[in-house]
Amino acid sequence: MRIGSTFPLLSSIFLIVTVLPLTLANLNSDKQALLAFAAAVPHGRKLNWNAATPVCTSWVGINCTSDGTRVLALRLPGVGLAGPIPANSLGKLDALRVLSLRSNVLNGNLPLDIPSLPSLQYLFLQHNNFSGDIPTSFSPKLIVLDLSFNLFTGIIPPKIQNLTELTGLNLQNNSLSGTIPNVIPPKLRHLNLSYNQLNGSIPPLFQQFPNSSFVGNSLLCGLPLNPCSPIFPPPFFPPPTVPQKQNSRKKLTRGAIIAIAVGGSVVLLLVAVIVLLLCFKRRGSERSNVSKGKAPSVGRSENPKEEFGSGVQEPEKNKLVFFEGSSYNFDLEDLLRASAEVLGKGSYGTAYKAVLEEATTVVVKRLKEVVVSKKEFEQQMEIIGRVGQNPNTVPLRAYYYSKDEKLLVYDYIQGGSLASVLHGNRDAGRTPLDWDTRVKISLGAARGIAHVHSVGGSKFSHGNIKSSNVLLNQDLDGCVSDFGLAPLMNFPPTPSRHAGYRAPEVIETRKHTHKSDVYSFGVLLLEMLTGKQPIQSPGRDDMVDLPRWVQSVVREEWTAEVFDVELMRFQNIEEEMVQMLQIAMACVVRMPEMRPNMDEVVRMIEEVRQSDSENRPSSEENKSKDPPAVQTP
Ligand SMILES: *[C@@H]1O[C@H](CO)[C@@H](O)[C@H](O)[C@H]1NC(C)=O
Ligand SMILES: *[C@@H]1O[C@H](CO)[C@@H](O)[C@H](O)[C@H]1NC(C)=O
Ligand SMILES: *[C@@H]1O[C@H](CO)[C@@H](O)[C@H](O)[C@H]1NC(C)=O
Ligand SMILES: *[C@@H]1O[C@H](CO)[C@@H](O)[C@H](O)[C@H]1NC(C)=O
Ligand SMILES: *[C@@H]1O[C@H](CO)[C@@H](O)[C@H](O)[C@H]1NC(C)=O
Ligand SMILES: *[C@@H]1O[C@H](CO)[C@@H](O)[C@H](O)[C@H]1NC(C)=O
Ligand SMILES: *[C@@H]1O[C@H](CO)[C@@H](O)[C@H](O)[C@H]1NC(C)=O
Repeated sequence: MRIGSTFPLLSSIFLIVTVLPLTLANLNSDKQALLAFAAAVPHGRKLNWNAATPVCTSWVGINCTSDGTRVLALRLPGVGLAGPIPANSLGKLDALRVLSLRSNVLNGNLPLDIPSLPSLQYLFLQHNNFSGDIPTSFSPKLIVLDLSFNLFTGIIPPKIQNLTELTGLNLQNNSLSGTIPNVIPPKLRHLNLSYNQLNGSIPPLFQQFPNSSFVGNSLLCGLPLNPCSPIFPPPFFPPPTVPQKQNSRKKLTRGAIIAIAVGGSVVLLLVAVIVLLLCFKRRGSERSNVSKGKAPSVGRSENPKEEFGSGVQEPEKNKLVFFEGSSYNFDLEDLLRASAEVLGKGSYGTAYKAVLEEATTVVVKRLKEVVVSKKEFEQQMEIIGRVGQNPNTVPLRAYYYSKDEKLLVYDYIQGGSLASVLHGNRDAGRTPLDWDTRVKISLGAARGIAHVHSVGGSKFSHGNIKSSNVLLNQDLDGCVSDFGLAPLMNFPPTPSRHAGYRAPEVIETRKHTHKSDVYSFGVLLLEMLTGKQPIQSPGRDDMVDLPRWVQSVVREEWTAEVFDVELMRFQNIEEEMVQMLQIAMACVVRMPEMRPNMDEVVRMIEEVRQSDSENRPSSEENKSKDPPAVQTP
């Protein structure tokens, strides 16, 4: 009995006695390692690392375990760190998970002890001047390794293929040579080996990556680049070079820019802005090639960047609220640090595209004129988060609320919006958006809205359906965004005598309902069918009240008068266009209760699709002759 009760006591005393000094020694050794690093490496901006102040709470760039016993993250991007990192400095931070020293001017060899830190998950050393070989030993826990834009030489270490957790590998813009290892890390999702001196053929397992993962290695061949020439290439046969194709793309862009410059008028300038926006959206990761060969900016000091977080209070920097199921791994500080570009200004505020260092891209919406309390805001966010879980809705991933700043974080959708593919670049000889694609996008949007209605409940409506809020995913399917925000905001003033997408009753009651969404969707369908814009947009004067205008044209004249001239070149689609027009007209009837509900609209569009596959033998032909505009540069 006695022994039984004293033994645990004794052993716990033993534990305290042995473990306590151990943890103290660990934080202390972390501190010594950091001080050694700061002393050895000159830095432009002064670090407030002072031996007398607590590491975890007052040192800049440091993040610790919640109990403050170990340093977990060290982030010092763009602070002017210069020269080599000595071995036995940062290499002693053996609990470190995140190390970011990107966008400094560090040089020399990368000490072996850094990538092999046993707990290291994220290593960001891009945009420095490191040289020599890439070390050959890595932490088995490594998730992202970014050594891009340095001066590394030698081969890609074969050990990389054994990194079972690795999802991102960026080695572009170095001077690496040799062949690509032929086994692929099992979880690798993002790869960039562009602009090195790699040779040989691309191993089959790597062919799943886009060609932009490999360009700029003139001796590299095989899919997704040019096929390898026969085993012994004839002596004067020029090797398949990739950069040529890039040139032609550059030329095209330059040509377009010159053509636009010649025009010189305000209208053409606006068109140019739209073209550029489209290029950005379509090219996504390839955009650096198009825009004067400039790399996407990552450092905080490299490019002037857009600010969207000026209203964030210092003590609140970690208050980003994530939704369950979000796989994102960043905090508000990362977000504010990211390079951002304006995507557009809407009635609710400005949207930015933000590229974070983990190679994730998100859209940040900065809301203006939110008129509800924090509690109401949070409740609405909770519903929006829940409703976003569907292939046809753009998910809200996180939000931030403070008195002066309200931010929403969404997934970034590559393909641009229906508005941009429908109206963008009309005058400049673009490839028209074909009929099949238009129907597919509309059906996707209809499904998204129907989902918003069924999951959000009878009180929850989209409230802001318009073509710029229908986004195109990789499969050219329509997804709706921006739902559920209307009740949070001041009711925007009607911009003109026209209602645009707004149902007549909304203008009176200032309340959105499922049926007013149906009306707006009807206007969207009319827009898709006619190619005309229902709301005023800068530089265009063809705005019309679409429902009234279509009603004013007699049925016999529809084909000649109503439908988008761009659709006239496609054959055998008239019947379907008329059917879609009828669906649209049913949605825009004046009396809300006479409109179909969204599920019915989805079913009706699906039926049009059905008859399409049965009755249109030439539809395949149409497709191959006229690929959707979205895929052509
Ligand atoms: C620091 O670590 C804590 C606990 O792990 C985490 O909640 C917080 O978001 C981190 N902050 C930063 C700036 O990384
Ligand atoms: C980094 O390397 C580049 C290319 O060799 C060189 O032009 C630049 O001066 C170097 N910067 C520093 C700070 O050493
Ligand atoms: C990868 O791991 C396997 C088994 O763990 C080992 O046999 C192989 O040699 C390793 N490969 C490299 C390149 O380290
Ligand atoms: C790649 O280049 C290296 C020299 O950098 C050479 O030894 C090797 O044979 C080349 N491999 C192929 C497949 O061309
Ligand atoms: C890369 O692929 C895209 C489409 O997949 C193609 O348009 C482009 O020409 C390719 N570029 C190169 C350099 O092969
Ligand atoms: C890889 O990096 C190059 C050069 O910065 C860039 O042009 C390309 O788009 C990148 N590719 C991918 C897949 O990220
Ligand atoms: C990356 O390398 C390519 C090819 O050498 C070059 O065009 C591009 O400017 C480089 N990017 C940077 C940021 O150095």
